[in-house]
Amino acid sequence: MNTKPSDPRVIVALDYPAAEPALELVARLDPALCRLKVGKEMFTRLGPTFVERLQLAGFQVFLDLKYHDIPNTVAAACAAAADLGVWMVNLHASGGRRMMETARERLAGYGERPLLIAVTILTSLGEEDLAEIGFSGTPEENVLRLAALAEDSGLDGVVCSPLEAAAIHRRAGQGFRLVTPGVRPASAALDDQKRVMTPGDAIRAGASYLVVGRPITAAEDPLASLQAINDEVSGALA
Ligand code: C5P
Repeated sequence: MNTKPSDPRVIVALDYPAAEPALELVARLDPALCRLKVGKEMFTRLGPTFVERLQLAGFQVFLDLKYHDIPNTVAAACAAAADLGVWMVNLHASGGRRMMETARERLAGYGERPLLIAVTILTSLGEEDLAEIGFSGTPEENVLRLAALAEDSGLDGVVCSPLEAAAIHRRAGQGFRLVTPGVRPASAALDDQKRVMTPGDAIRAGASYLVVGRPITAAEDPLASLQAINDEVSGALA
């Protein structure tokens, strides 16, 4: 089918230690079919110039730096991300309402602003880890509480596990975006992901965007793998 979506739902995670392998992969992809995620490792090594290179090649970028600091500092970082022209940026909801509202207000002045997305509870944290840092309740209870706080603070959505997507989707308003990693086509290796969903199931559970790394970046034919995922997404959206 190889449809070209107007709002590509796949965000390809660029997790590389250097620019060259990332740019080789990117040269095999198509900006009409996906967006790209740049995280802490690549940004710390390569900086904004690397993001600009991706944007010049026509790709929209999710800058995954998960800001968490005092409100003024996070708002200033979000403004820097907006000046860089990224499509999506994120912060930790546990930074609190005032941090999120200040960041959102700072972005309101931009004609075209990045989507502002919250991280709720890192999927690496279990109930005991949460108790140790003073969060009572299960990870899911904390995820739902922080997702509601993020929405109430004016954010555009949250990053969440596809297994949490349905519960958040039921409670959140229309248009609150759910960005889900932990996505694996039925035929792909799990790698180090434990709790995964297929692209179609994640979309049916309410995911807006799927963060997919190795099933595309480590594929023999990354473009074919991306197209197969997009076909599954189109089927689930139809
Ligand atoms: O290769 P893979 O598809 O597992 O990559 C998933 C991407 O999503 C990685 O960049 C990873 O850091 C990120 N991520 C994740 N699980 C989370 C949050 C982010 O896999 N809970």
